[in-house]
Amino acid sequence: MDEPHHSRVRPPIAKALYARAAKCKPLVDEIIDEKLDAVVPRGGFDLLNDFSIPLPIDVIGAILGVDIERRAEFRDWSEGVIQVLNPFRTPQQVAYLERSGEAISTYFEEQIADRRANPKDDLISDVVTLQAEGAELTDREIISNLIGLLVGGNLTTSDLIGNGVYALLTHPEQLAKLKADPSIVAQVVEEILRFDGPVDITARVTPRDMEIGGCPVKARQSVISLLRSANHDPDIFENPDDFDVSRKPGPHVAFGGGSHICIGAPLARIEAQAALVKLFQRFPNLRLARPDEKPEKRTLPFFNGIQRLDVLI
Ligand code: HEM
Repeated sequence: MDEPHHSRVRPPIAKALYARAAKCKPLVDEIIDEKLDAVVPRGGFDLLNDFSIPLPIDVIGAILGVDIERRAEFRDWSEGVIQVLNPFRTPQQVAYLERSGEAISTYFEEQIADRRANPKDDLISDVVTLQAEGAELTDREIISNLIGLLVGGNLTTSDLIGNGVYALLTHPEQLAKLKADPSIVAQVVEEILRFDGPVDITARVTPRDMEIGGCPVKARQSVISLLRSANHDPDIFENPDDFDVSRKPGPHVAFGGGSHICIGAPLARIEAQAALVKLFQRFPNLRLARPDEKPEKRTLPFFNGIQRLDVLI
């Protein structure tokens, strides 16, 4: 979304989301514990499908205020709407995307009407209240932004945890530092974002004729910036291809930058930090099930994640 709409729509959504993120740590801890409890009897699990994929969906579901009885449907729709990012979707995936998009829009429409009559302690109520207090948001904009939180936030957070666990398990000397002092986890997460972030690019449209990095660009052209490349820039980061959790956190751009910088960054950080600390505290012997194999990457263009990661506990 460009101006003039972006600076009208983003602030109320951001205000509501940041306030919810600031108090969601106990909820995140509880959801993580529940997922880790479930894998204990199995001796091993797929870190992605059994843990880091359902985690952000359940967290955002609880923050939005999705009823417990509707969580399974909500999970299914959330997985469906993510297909919007997949340019190679099969006809079945297209049908899944359309079905999920319609179901979730109808669901949010009902929930917005419900919260207007009976406000609750959740994000949907917060946004509806801001709208009633004068924030200029249409119901359609609220619905598409709520869906935007699922599309933008779910797979990315899953991949941050997946890439992070893989980086730590394949760099035992770095994992040892986290185990010895879990209070460094914020720094560890920033290094994972820099070293192997979940999103490879972002895009802009030039507002006028301009020069970017010495290259003349006409007005209204698409410009793609390579976040991964910037995060491995040797002028900014010493030995940029080394994974080093003791690195002084530098100005990485894994969440983009400027007015469109990721709105979900505070939430993603809370989830990833809690997930890493709890995983390695709960399973100090966590290890790769097939250490000699490189895990298969997700095929979604521009997203950098692992398809599955089998681990033993
Ligand atoms: C590790 C996890 C995440 C990564 C790496 C990530 C990355 C990004 C990037 C690179 C952008 C584009 C920024 C730009 O163009 O300057 C973005 C935007 C966005 N992200 Fe995230 N994101 C993550 C988690 C989340 C979460 C948890 C949410 C929601 C709860 C979210 C929602 C959004 C939205 C709505 C935008 C568009 C913001 C705007 O245009 O104003 N993201 N994200």
